[in-house]
This record gives sequence, structure tokens and C-alpha cells, in this order.
Amino acid sequence: MDFFRTRTLAYLLGAVEFADNIRLNIVDGFFPFKPHNASSWSQLEGKTCIITGGNAGIGLATAEAFAKRGGKVVLACRSLVRGRRAAQAIAHKIGQSDKAHDIEVREVDLTSLESVRRFAKAFNKEDRRLDVLICNAGIMAPPERQQTVDGLEMQFQVNYLGHWLLAHELLSHQRSRFLSSSKSLNGSDRAHRGAESCSEQASSVNEKDENGTRLIFLSSMTHRAGKLDFSDLQLTHGYSGFKGYANSKLATLLAAKEFQHRFDRSLNRRMDVAVAVHPGLVDTKLAREWLTGADVMGSAAQPLVAPIARALAPWLLIAPDRAVESILYAATAPAEKIAGQYVAAGTVARPARMAEDLVIARELWDTSCKLTGTKPTL
Ligand SMILES: NC(=O)c1ccc[n+]([C@@H]2O[C@H](COP(=O)([O-])OP(=O)(O)OC[C@H]3O[C@@H](n4cnc5c(N)ncnc54)[C@H](OP(=O)(O)O)[C@@H]3O)[C@@H](O)[C@H]2O)c1
Repeated sequence: MDFFRTRTLAYLLGAVEFADNIRLNIVDGFFPFKPHNASSWSQLEGKTCIITGGNAGIGLATAEAFAKRGGKVVLACRSLVRGRRAAQAIAHKIGQSDKAHDIEVREVDLTSLESVRRFAKAFNKEDRRLDVLICNAGIMAPPERQQTVDGLEMQFQVNYLGHWLLAHELLSHQRSRFLSSSKSLNGSDRAHRGAESCSEQASSVNEKDENGTRLIFLSSMTHRAGKLDFSDLQLTHGYSGFKGYANSKLATLLAAKEFQHRFDRSLNRRMDVAVAVHPGLVDTKLAREWLTGADVMGSAAQPLVAPIARALAPWLLIAPDRAVESILYAATAPAEKIAGQYVAAGTVARPARMAEDLVIARELWDTSCKLTGTKPTL
């Protein structure tokens, strides 16, 4: 019953979005799509932005958009080779082939919590400011249930839990870094510098850092088909690839809610903002593989229907550049407009009711702490 509810809802929503994508693609045929280039996007200049899975699909297009606007991009990839290749492609595309090395490439494999911790530890050790963290990497609907080295269901960990841990570790450091820099300026330095110049400096640190970090989770409209059952989060019974995907995307929305809740209740003056984004149904490896795979049409029909789906894909799916608009909006819109919200089609949208349930968000947070052995510092 649950299985049919999940499928039917997802297909209905997908059909509506596919129809709209066909309309957009027809319009683009006459008037090629140009990014809106909102004036707020110029804010990205000089900002440091980590993008997981920045070597392909939506992550790659987002990295290019940030780099084009002068952002300092860090591609967090599971393959350094693919990451470096992407860095070169980005530099070439934005007309700065000689500056490919300015785009950092770092290794993180979300199937391993240890790898996530290593990544965060190395970045935190450098004690740098982090302006935007985009939790983008993802996989969709492996037909058979797979487990990570940590013994967890693959999509749950790659799409959700690995990102949750990454965000927790990086944001915790950013917030304590802010507190200690404020303290040192307000406290001991005062004795040396004289009260006036010190308060000037303290306020300049506060003003700058009040902007905090933008924490962006790539969710999906498929979250509406998700339902978290805490007695079997790892889907050991009745696994379906799509159910696992929908649940992981619902979890990212709940994570955005809970992170925001914790940022808001803290006395720390930083304006950290967590937001979840549905990028649209986008022409990437992930979407194409799903569209033409056995998950959609069943293994018997797949050989017949896959070529048709492949031919239709460019019409049914939007270009990654379009998806980037929603992500740039999430990265630059005023905090009060998007904090803890769900962004879809470039604007704030209403998610499923379960995604707004703070009790479930809290339970998921506590479960995430247990599963990762994390003592929460946010
Ligand atoms: N495309 C859509 O229609 C759509 C719709 C809604 C939401 N989304 C979400 O958007 C995000 C990006 O998807 P996409 O469509 O751009 O997919 P994609 O083109 O397949 O790219 C996925 C990226 O994630 C990386 N990745 C996968 N497993 C990883 C792991 N264990 N550790 C680190 N990185 C890993 C991939 O690295 P490799 O290159 O090394 O494989 C790749 O860079 C996903 O979270 C997806 O759920 C996509």
C-alpha cells in the first residue's frame, strides 16, 4: 500500500513537472535560455563555497556559476581525478584556463563517515571562513539495497547522513571560530589597543561574520513521496530504490529545518542560514539513468521503453544552468526570506507537511547523532 502511495504521488508530481519542462524547452528553442544574473549574485565575489559532487551535473554547473562570479570554489569529490578534470573544464569555460589551480579539489567519499570527518578536520584546521556549503552530491534509486562501509543504507548515508555530518562539523567550527574572534577583540586586545579602536575592530568582525554560512541541501520534489519510519530508517524490510531516495530527500529538508532551529535559538550573533532546494528535473547522469532504468518501467519493459525515454530526456529535463538559478537564489537571497525554507523553481515554496514537522526533525537529528557517534555542538 505504502509502495503504491509513494509511486503514484511521485509519478503525478513528476508528470506535472515534465510537462512544464517541455514548455520551457520549447521556449528555449526560440529564445535560448540566459541566466537572469540577478544583482544579488555579485555578492558571491570572493566568497568561499564548498560543493560536494562539484565535478558533475548540477554541482558542476553550480561551481561554474560561482567561479564566474569570482567565488572561491572548493570541489569536494570522491574522485580527485574527476575533480581536477572538472576544475580545468570550469576554468576553461569561464575563460581562465591558466587559473584552474585556483579551483580547489578535495577528496570526500560520502559512503564513509570517516572520509567526511577527515575532510572536515582538514578544512577546519586551516581555520578559514566558509561562506557557502552546498550539500549536492547524490545517488538515485539503486535497484538493490546497498550498504555503506558504516553499515547504513547507501542513499540514506550519501544523500543525507554524510552531508549532515559534514555540515555539523564545518558549521560547528565556523561558529566557534566566530565566537573566539569576537572574544579576542572584545577582551584581551582591548587592553593593548585602547577601547575605541578595539570596538571598531570588533564591530567590523561582527558585521562581516553576522552574514554567517549559507548551508544549502539539495533536496527534491520527490521528498513528498517520502515517509520516515524510525523503526526501520535503513529500509531493511521492503526496500525500494525510489522509497530510499524519497526518504533521503525528505531527510535533507528536515535537516535544513533543524539546523535553522538550532542557529536561531543560539545566542551566537552569526546569521547562519540553512535552506533546502529542489533544483527541478534536470538533465544529468542521475536523472537520465533513473528515467531509462528499471526503477521507472520495470525490468521487463525496460529494453523497449528505455530508448524512447532516452530520446525524450532532452525535452523532459531542464538544463543544469536553469537548476543553478534556484541554488544561487538560496545562496544570496536575504536571510529572513529563506532561513529554514524550501526553495523550488527559484523561489520559496511549500514542502510536504512532514518536512515541516519539528518533532520529526528533532528525532532525526538525535538519530543522526547516534548513528555518527556525534556529540552535538550546535
Ligand atoms: N537531476 C535531477 O533531476 C535532480 C532532481 C532533484 C534533485 N536532484 C539532486 O541534485 C543533486 C545532484 O544531482 P545530479 O543530478 O547533478 O547528479 P549527477 O550528475 O549524477 O552528479 C552526482 C554527483 O554526486 C557525486 N557523488 C555520488 N556519490 C558520491 C559519494 N559517495 N561521495 C561523494 N560524491 C558522490 C558524483 O560523483 P562521481 O562523478 O564521482 O560519480 C557526482 O559528482 C543530488 O543530490 C540529486 O539528488 C537532482
